[in-house]
Amino acid sequence: MELYDVMRTAFSAREYTDEPVPDKLLYRILDNSRFASSGGNRQGWKVIVVRKKESKQKIAELAVPGAKRYAAQRIAGENPFNTIDPSSVDDETIQNTPPSPKLNMTYVDAPVVLVVCVDLKVVASMDRDLDRVGVVSGASIYPFVWNILLSARNEGFGGRITTIPITREKELQEYFRIPGHFAVSAILTIGKPAKLLTKLSRKPVSEFTMVEFFDGKNL
Ligand SMILES: Cc1cc2nc3c(=O)[nH]c(=O)nc-3n(C[C@H](O)[C@H](O)[C@H](O)COP(=O)(O)O)c2cc1C
Repeated sequence: MELYDVMRTAFSAREYTDEPVPDKLLYRILDNSRFASSGGNRQGWKVIVVRKKESKQKIAELAVPGAKRYAAQRIAGENPFNTIDPSSVDDETIQNTPPSPKLNMTYVDAPVVLVVCVDLKVVASMDRDLDRVGVVSGASIYPFVWNILLSARNEGFGGRITTIPITREKELQEYFRIPGHFAVSAILTIGKPAKLLTKLSRKPVSEFTMVEFFDGKNL
């Protein structure tokens, strides 16, 4: 596929056919994805290839608390898990809200699940001392993560990033025997999409690009 076609059609595939994702294909996807940039070229990524049903079930189970809170905050008209606006949703409401099915589905049915971790010992977290949630650390892992999804799309497969289970990172680390200084960055489901979506809903450039200053005119 043409690069721009891949970029414009890499939708979040949540339903897959039974077609397997062989190790050979996975290897090729990862072999191309590894050319991603990372701070200082430290390449702190590790990937756990999960095919065992009970392990996928474990991930699905650990996604439930986050998916419940996500759904409850959406129902309340909030931007879930944001660190700026305090949430008005209490614990009891979260408990009584069913998990968002879209966010929580498909771990078990996906042919393969990738748990992507990053070694925080090698990541330069430039914003570590700022008075806000850290975002710069992610820049050393998400280019790699996104390359995986672009490569999968290029191979006629597809997948999606999930982060919901990471609210239970400690349990993930215990289950998958991940050392404590490795952050679980993303959990990807990969397979042959049951249907292809090609029209992605995204804001136009003019809505997010300003010239010279944040309040400058749009490009
Ligand atoms: C940082 C990040 C976290 C995400 N977490 C989840 C998730 O936990 N579960 C899920 O189903 N999708 C997740 N997604 C996928 C988004 O929901 C999806 O990209 C968005 O709704 C746009 O859908 P589309 O790519 O099909 O157009 C995540 C995407 C990103 C970039």
